[in-house]
Amino acid sequence: MKVSVIGGGAWGTTLAQTLADNQNEVLIRDVNKDFVNKINKYHVHPSFDVSIPSSIKATLSLEEAISFAKIIVLCVPTKVMRNVLIEINNLLKDKKVFINVSKGIEPETTYLVSDIIKDTVDNKYLEAYVVLSGPSHAEELIKRKFTSLVSASTNLDWAKAIQNLFSNDYLRVYTSQDVRGVETGGAIKNAIAVVSGIVEGLGLGENARAALICRGMREIIKIVEALGGNIETAYGLSGLGDLIVTASSYNSRNFKAGLKIGQGQSVEDAINTSTQTVEGVRTIIAAHEIGVKYNLELPIISTSYLLVTGKISLEESQNLLLTRKLKQE
Ligand SMILES: NC(=O)c1ccc[n+]([C@@H]2O[C@H](COP(=O)([O-])OP(=O)(O)OC[C@H]3O[C@@H](n4cnc5c(N)ncnc54)[C@H](O)[C@@H]3O)[C@@H](O)[C@H]2O)c1
Repeated sequence: MKVSVIGGGAWGTTLAQTLADNQNEVLIRDVNKDFVNKINKYHVHPSFDVSIPSSIKATLSLEEAISFAKIIVLCVPTKVMRNVLIEINNLLKDKKVFINVSKGIEPETTYLVSDIIKDTVDNKYLEAYVVLSGPSHAEELIKRKFTSLVSASTNLDWAKAIQNLFSNDYLRVYTSQDVRGVETGGAIKNAIAVVSGIVEGLGLGENARAALICRGMREIIKIVEALGGNIETAYGLSGLGDLIVTASSYNSRNFKAGLKIGQGQSVEDAINTSTQTVEGVRTIIAAHEIGVKYNLELPIISTSYLLVTGKISLEESQNLLLTRKLKQE
């Protein structure tokens, strides 16, 4: 089958390798000339400098990528997702299946990517929308290390088709119909991962980090429910699973950004020194907005919101969390 991948960074090119391993024809579209050149000329992953199958091609042309395939994998940072989808919509001539693999929420609207699609893509060109998410470091999947993901769509036939498209002996894909639960869990865990990094950077210890991750899970569940997802999904791969892999890992750029903030770097510097997309800080802001909108008690999210928006200091944020009224678990 032919598949286009929009966004050929760490994750997009890694998934392209899996698709190529599964005998699909893959065309990556990226805006970075060097990335396109590395893939076409040297058959090298642009982020990790490891060899990738020579059958994978790349282009700078969005038009070429959109006309190439019916299946379009979206793997750009969420902050450019709306603009990319508007551009894509202007090029559409036939129905497409969109697979979103990006993890984030638009802070201005609190929209999930499925909401942004509805807002930007003409419904007559939308065959199906699938979200593919779960605990997955590109650094490991590129080495074909065992990984599990969830393919979620309200259209179960397409959820299964995408399950089959990606599954092989190192990637096991489950299906779900809970699109909102899978999208929300995958996005909000990045916010908690940033805070977990802050706890590490402050040197508060593993007891504190475990408490933070566990109480952070409570906040993920509240947000998943508020946005129309199921609690069971939050406890699955794209909630708890992704939180486990992200919230204590030096492979996670969200955890590492938090670490730098906890060590005293400014939020801007912590994000900008990462060469790859850090979704978590914007997601903290989006999660805070969701909390306000749905009247949710989210102490970790609301305190980290005050911190990353410069309203309180690191010390004040610790005091705010530790002096909360004692309560039942
Ligand atoms: N890296 C991982 O392990 C991983 C795993 C699962 C999900 N994700 C999610 O995937 C998304 C992308 O992450 P990443 O790690 O690949 O980031 P990245 O920064 O490595 O790659 C993003 C790519 O998008 C490209 N891009 C930016 N604007 C574009 C546009 N208008 N059109 C086409 N390409 C454009 C950039 O040039 C870059 O190559 C994020 O939402 C992230 O949370 C990442």
